[in-house]
Amino acid sequence: LRIGVVFGGRSAEHDVSVLSATNVMNALAAEKYDAVPIFVTREGQWLLSAFEGGTLAKPSSGTQLCLVPGGYGRAIAVPEDGAPYEVPQLDIVFPVLHGLHGEDGAVQGLAEVACVPLAGCGIAGSANALDKDIAKRLFNEAGVPVARSVTIHQGAAPAFEDLERALGLPVFIKPARQGSSVGVSKVSTEADYQAALSEGFRHDGKLLAEEFIRAREIECAVLEDEEGNLFVSRTGEIIPAESHGFYTYDAKYIDADGAALKVPAELPEEVEAEIRAIAPKAFRALGCDGMARADFFVTPDLRILVNELNTIPGFTDISMYSKVMAASGVSYPEIIDRLVMHGLA
Ligand code: DAL
Ligand code: MG
Repeated sequence: LRIGVVFGGRSAEHDVSVLSATNVMNALAAEKYDAVPIFVTREGQWLLSAFEGGTLAKPSSGTQLCLVPGGYGRAIAVPEDGAPYEVPQLDIVFPVLHGLHGEDGAVQGLAEVACVPLAGCGIAGSANALDKDIAKRLFNEAGVPVARSVTIHQGAAPAFEDLERALGLPVFIKPARQGSSVGVSKVSTEADYQAALSEGFRHDGKLLAEEFIRAREIECAVLEDEEGNLFVSRTGEIIPAESHGFYTYDAKYIDADGAALKVPAELPEEVEAEIRAIAPKAFRALGCDGMARADFFVTPDLRILVNELNTIPGFTDISMYSKVMAASGVSYPEIIDRLVMHGLA
């Protein structure tokens, strides 16, 4: 099987994607697959990459790759100089892209148009999960518990007092369509609020103000098989270092001691069971298929809230998805196999 692994990308999580894809390539290379790495530059060009010595090439220019619409995996390589040529057909596209332009349904739509199978979550589920505003509304409608929030559109931000009245203080201000805590601020004062709006709107035209929940961060993995059955993993806990305040981008990827993962999470049995019951409900509420990591808040009085679903969760060395799956008896290569099988079904 020839698997096109698409990585890099235009989002703020470009570097995280490279780390994730390196692990996916290692797993694929160790298996029976013929993996073709496709690097998406920060500008959005698709370039043929290479995987040598455990490292993915990130060319800044070179041979572009075009998937043929309706081509069932046919792909044309276009060198910078020289004539275009057809490369061997791809059997499946495996996006390892986080955030906008990749985890949001865009590349999933491209696969659909190209009539080529896709590993992971499809168009609607990806788009719904990536937009925290739309996800909230679908969760609320399905009775999936979430933190209270107010959606803020550019040019129509509520007054600080109104926000305080609705959600209390502090509040988190987050871009609606970003991952890895990029552009997220914690706000306690009017001045913080103005700064958080400017920072947030640098990343998205739509923000979410969310009530502050003093809570532990618990995550679990959902993986669908070819028959549509959902496997839900054990839970894991993210324990951020005190110095970071919350689970920031730096705590996640820059600072090696930024956070610790505890797998399985230390939770009363019935709490873990409830989390594992809510996860598939949340997955279905957003129209997801294939895969997602479900992120929860658990309050000191053991209230369970869904924070978000990530349809292409991080696959870096310090990522939760593979760790909670391993704790549930599913190895990394098996995750990849199941995603491929699901995509081909
Ligand atoms: N958005 C990052 C990659 C994650 O959720 O793991
Ligand atoms: Mg995320």
